[in-house]
Amino acid sequence: MVIGVPKEIKDHETRVGLVPAGVTALREAGHEVLVEAGAGDGSAIPDIDYQLAGAVVLDSAADVWDQADIIVKVKEPQASETAHFRPGLVLFTYLHLAPLPELTQKLLDAKVTAIAYETIRDETGALPLLIPMSEVAGRLSVQLGAQYLEKYTKGRGVLLGGVPGVAPAEVVIIGGGIVGANAARVALGTGARVTIIDKNLHRLRELDDTFLGKITTLAANSTNIAQALAKADLVIGAVLVPGAAAPKVIRREMLRGMKKGAVFADVAIDQGGCAETSRPTSHSEPVYEVEGVIHYCVPNIPALVPNTSTLALTNATLPYLLQLADKGIEKALTENSALREGVNTYQGAVTCQAVAESQGREWHGLQLK
Ligand SMILES: NC(=O)c1ccc[n+]([C@@H]2O[C@H](COP(=O)([O-])OP(=O)(O)OC[C@H]3O[C@@H](n4cnc5c(N)ncnc54)[C@H](O)[C@@H]3O)[C@@H](O)[C@H]2O)c1
Repeated sequence: MVIGVPKEIKDHETRVGLVPAGVTALREAGHEVLVEAGAGDGSAIPDIDYQLAGAVVLDSAADVWDQADIIVKVKEPQASETAHFRPGLVLFTYLHLAPLPELTQKLLDAKVTAIAYETIRDETGALPLLIPMSEVAGRLSVQLGAQYLEKYTKGRGVLLGGVPGVAPAEVVIIGGGIVGANAARVALGTGARVTIIDKNLHRLRELDDTFLGKITTLAANSTNIAQALAKADLVIGAVLVPGAAAPKVIRREMLRGMKKGAVFADVAIDQGGCAETSRPTSHSEPVYEVEGVIHYCVPNIPALVPNTSTLALTNATLPYLLQLADKGIEKALTENSALREGVNTYQGAVTCQAVAESQGREWHGLQLK
């Protein structure tokens, strides 16, 4: 198989779909890898590293797209990239097609096999290609919170860990899933006091075990949330109801009871945010203030650390890519139910029920050739 790795062209996207270690693994399995020149620059991976691993580096994106059997990317194809769609092309990337009917139509018209990272679901029901980005965002959220708690970024001027004789900061995490647990880990490491609030008691038991009782766990209800917020220096929003808008667990009046200059990092902003006062911001203007609380609401936090994010993402994607390349698409899909869940378009049909429903299109169960 020929695997193509174009440079990402979506605004501010600095990750890349394959790293040199992945090139080596594919070459060892007998495949050819074409990488667009500069594809790894944003993640601090120079062309020479791809060449040393056995990839052919090509100057033109068109050459990569047109010669590859499988295109491996990070973000959904942009307008100029759709010109390269053709029957039989396999696209392996984050797609988030639900709000993109035009792109969906182009994939259907060109009979592209589009496999979306975000809908690959393993036998435990987990979404293995979303987890790495939640790990990155969870860990970073504490680092970011610490930064915005500093005086010259308009924060309270609080050091997370305190010092001998001065109490550490209170970090309150709402939602104890992947983001929440990773945030807790980093916050504990700084010496802060950590409270995790979740509606799932089973999950709270697991967290209590994992952190050996070093965190406080609270059941999610508005009384517990309001009381925890009143004590907090840093609040991290990390709730998720899969497929739905984030529940607004923080109401404006709760913010009025918070300390002035406290920080709220709403990691769940990519699903609409978990406070009434949340609205998406960007890396160029990440924060704003409401009721004296600094809101950090950037929907693509992992872009701050593209080298780590690229490595984390590709660690998770490579095993699937190897199966597609080694077995061929139809055999890999037949034998791997997680990969099958990832197929959003195949042979001109929408094969992901959620995408079909959200766009009012007909849904077809995957009928492999
Ligand atoms: N901003 C970013 O850059 C970025 C990056 C990665 C992930 N995210 C987002 O972070 C959010 C969390 O992701 P995750 O992977 O940790 O999800 P997850 O499913 O692992 O965890 C979500 C947790 O929220 C809890 N929850 C749901 N509703 C709740 C409620 N009403 N009250 C309290 N707890 C509730 C669940 O029980 C679960 O434990 C998602 O929206 C995800 O898309 C954002």
